Amino acid sequence: MSKKITVAFAGLGSRGNSYAEACALLKDKIEIVACADIIEGKVTRFAEKYGVPAEGCYSSAEEMLKADRLADVMFICTMDKQHYGHAIPALEKNYHLVLEKPASTDPRECMEIARVANEHNRHVVVCHVLRYTPTTESLRRSWTPVCSVRSTPSRLARA
Ligand SMILES: NC(=O)c1ccc[n+]([C@@H]2O[C@H](COP(=O)([O-])OP(=O)(O)OC[C@H]3O[C@@H](n4cnc5c(N)ncnc54)[C@H](O)[C@@H]3O)[C@@H](O)[C@H]2O)c1
Repeated sequence: MSKKITVAFAGLGSRGNSYAEACALLKDKIEIVACADIIEGKVTRFAEKYGVPAEGCYSSAEEMLKADRLADVMFICTMDKQHYGHAIPALEKNYHLVLEKPASTDPRECMEIARVANEHNRHVVVCHVLRYTPTTESLRRSWTPVCSVRSTPSRLARA
C-alpha cells in the first residue's frame, strides 16, 4: 500500500472537527498525527477520537508551528484574522495547506500567502466547499450557456 498522507490540525472547532471526520473516512489514506487548540479539552477530545499521540498535541497553533515539520499537510481552521499568521510560518515549514476561508480578510495578505506558497512550491487549498455541492454544480451546468456561475447563496447550495 502507498504511504499515507499525514495531516496536522490547527484549530479544533466546528470546521476542524468536520474535516477530521472526513479524514477519518479515508483512514487508509490519511493519518492525523498532530493537533492544536488553545482550549485544552478540545485537544484532549480530538486526540482521543482520532488517535493523535500525546507528542502530537499542542496548546496552540503557534506552539505547533515551533516544532519541526510534523506532517505533509496542515489544516488551518482557526479564526479569519488568524489565518495569515498561521499560514505563512506553516508554508515556510513546507506544509501544504488546507486553509479555511477567507484565506485572509486583507487582500494583500492573500497575495502574500500565494507568493510564499509559490516560493516553497506548496499547494494551498482554500475551503470554498459550497462550490462543490450538488445544487451549485447543477446551477453551474444549467446556467453556463447564459453566464458564469461562481457561487450561490449558502441557503441555496445546501438545498
Ligand atoms: N468553509 C466554510 O464553509 C466555513 C463555514 C464556517 C466557517 N468557516 C471559517 O472556518 C474558520 C473556523 O470556523 P469555526 O466555525 O470552526 O470556528 P470555531 O470557533 O468553532 O473554531 C475555531 C477554533 O480555533 C481555536 N483557536 C483560536 N486561537 C487558536 C490558536 N492560536 N491556536 C490554535 N487554535 C486556536 C479556537 O479555540 C476554536 O476551537 C473561520 O475562519 C470561519 O470563517 C468556513
